[in-house]
Amino acid sequence: MTRPLILINFKLYKESVGSKGLELARKIAKVKRSKYEIAIAPSLLTTKEIVDKVNISVFAQHCSKVDLGAHTGKISVIELKKIGVKGTILNHSERKIPMKFLKVIIESCHKQKLQTVVCASTLGEIKKVAKFKPTYIAYEPKRLIGTNISVTNSKPKIIVKAVELVHKLSKNTRVLCGAGIHTQEDIGQALLLGTTGVLIGHAVPKAKDPKKFLEKLLS
Ligand code: G3P
Repeated sequence: MTRPLILINFKLYKESVGSKGLELARKIAKVKRSKYEIAIAPSLLTTKEIVDKVNISVFAQHCSKVDLGAHTGKISVIELKKIGVKGTILNHSERKIPMKFLKVIIESCHKQKLQTVVCASTLGEIKKVAKFKPTYIAYEPKRLIGTNISVTNSKPKIIVKAVELVHKLSKNTRVLCGAGIHTQEDIGQALLLGTTGVLIGHAVPKAKDPKKFLEKLLS
């Protein structure tokens, strides 16, 4: 059976870039919870170093629609595969991707056996991205991102609808939810509502003691 995924997005917080990102990854890697798969999405500039030095599943925060060639400032699926990430977040509300590109990127990732975590802010967007059959769809209402109002408290009915919708359109795609997740109850509730895990942003990198905080979150 698939274990729930707890994916921690480091974003570009001052607490999670550069050497602090590596330190944070090491702290998170010490949290042992066999019931969950704990993974991180570090800043893109620290991703390779963290994959090389820390024993934890790593996702990229984004990937572009490019093959190797004359492109500047892009991230290719091929390079991501080479550095050893498990997959990539795509279409985060802070890094949207046009639908026609998203389809191609998802296909290229799956060809390279990289998992895809595709974000969607509404049921309408879920409908569109489910057709591309990603590994995961993460429902994240934009308005709640970065707050301490959790999606599980604020939008439980939509989470249930999102799970139903995804299962109808793409039966192998698993559903995550995210935005404001910061308590043990939020995670329990997310699983009760039918998701296979959560996407967490600020709560872990900004915690006073991220290791203790995560241990408590997952106890
Ligand atoms: O990618 C995770 C995300 O956008 C949720 O962020 O800070 O609300 O947990 P946050």
